[in-house]
Parts: sequence; C-alpha cells; structure tokens
Amino acid sequence: MTNKLRYFIGNWKMFGDFGSFKIIHKINQFSRKSKNQSKKKIILCVPNTLIHFFKKKLKSKFISLGVQNCHYHQGYGPFTGSVNASMLKKAGAEFVILGHSENRSEGETNQLIKKKIESALNEELSVIFCIGETLKEKKRAKTFSILKNQIKSSLEKKFNVNKIIFAYEPVWSIGTNKIPKMNELKSTIKFIKNEFKKTFKTKKSPKVLYGGSVNDKNISLFSSISEIDGFLIGGASQSSKKFIDIIKNYYK
Ligand code: PGA
Repeated sequence: MTNKLRYFIGNWKMFGDFGSFKIIHKINQFSRKSKNQSKKKIILCVPNTLIHFFKKKLKSKFISLGVQNCHYHQGYGPFTGSVNASMLKKAGAEFVILGHSENRSEGETNQLIKKKIESALNEELSVIFCIGETLKEKKRAKTFSILKNQIKSSLEKKFNVNKIIFAYEPVWSIGTNKIPKMNELKSTIKFIKNEFKKTFKTKKSPKVLYGGSVNDKNISLFSSISEIDGFLIGGASQSSKKFIDIIKNYYK
C-alpha cells in the first residue's frame, strides 16, 4: 500500500439537489473514521446551486468541496448566466474543475481555459486542470502532442503550481467504461509530469490524477501505477457506496 498522498475527487456533473447531501454526509462519515487520514484527500465537486448549502451543512475537515467551472472574468460584468471565481469562493468552493472535455466540446479553447485558470488562482481557488486526447487523436498517435499543447497554451510560469492539480482524462474513456492500457497510462502520466517540468523549468513534479470510467472494480488496476496521484471520478461519485468502495478497494 502506498504511503503517498492520494486524491479522490468526485465530479458530480449535472447531478444533485438538496437531498443529495446524504451522499456527502456518508462520504464524510467514512472519511472521518478511516485510517491514514493524512494520506488521502477527498474532494466533491458539485453544482453551483448546491455549494453554499453543502458548505454550511457539512462543517467538516475530512472532505473538501469544489465546483466544476467558472467564468474567466474577475469582478461583476454583463455575462448572463455566468458565475465568476470570486462568487464561487464566497459561496464555499475551495476547488474548481477547469478544462473538462465536456466543456471543451462546447467550445472552450486552451486560451479561454488559461484565462479561467488565472482568474481562479487570483481568487485562491485550487484548480483541477483537465487535459486529454480524443479517440481520433489517439488513433493518429497524437496523444503526446495534444497534451503538450494543452499544457503549454493554458498555463504560465507565473501561475502558482502548488494550486494546480492535473487530471489526465482521455475523452474516449469518460463515461464509456473504457480505460487505457496500464503501460500506456503509466507513460502518459510520466510524460505529463516531465513535460510540465520542462516547459516551466522546474524540478517540482505536479500532481497528476487519472479520470475516465474509474469504478470499484477497475481501481485496483490503477493502484499499481505509483505515478498516479489520485483520481477524478464522475458517474461513480454520484453514489456514496460506489465512491467509498473505490477508495476502500484502492487501498486493499
Ligand atoms: P466518468 O467521468 O468517471 O463518469 O467517466 C469522469 C469525468 O468526467 O471527470
């Protein structure tokens, strides 16, 4: 069993209402009682409509809360339907997922994501920065060049790296029950870490998570790759049992 800090981050996507607090409550109870408290970090990224309510109700140091996107603009402005990083921070978010492929597919570019990251960091939110290739790109052996470009065009040296967690999520693995081959995944995670160090001339390795169809059955496969610092879990995080079983089985 690893001794390194591992992240288990839930991405609820467009899911949940006030009653869904029971899921958070159960995960919190599990986290409070579990061993190796300091070796794992549990974060639930919920819809904007729930963050304030959950934060008030939770009052826990055993799990943290985040959201799933923010507008790039700092301060108020004429952006109908949008919410900025400062508003989300005040509502109780500590983390924000940015660059998720479901948002990229609706038009978010690397340049826009960069503005969002900068804005979130200025508000002292921690960023879960998603990168990953499509199936078409994978088939054309473009994975590394896509990842390199996503890293280079969305980050800047001046950004506080300590507040950025990478999530490698191959687009073809999200919600499909398909996962990468473990040897490929290992080299991709290593590539991301090295690429980051090279680009930003630092010796410090970033945290890199894996995301895409993680469940309680396949989690044990991933635990063999020590370079993976944790997981971004979508569908399975909408059930306390599935989410808790993933964590339990990771440490088995
Ligand atoms: P999934 O989603 O676990 O449902 O594949 C992962 C994600 O979108 O972050």
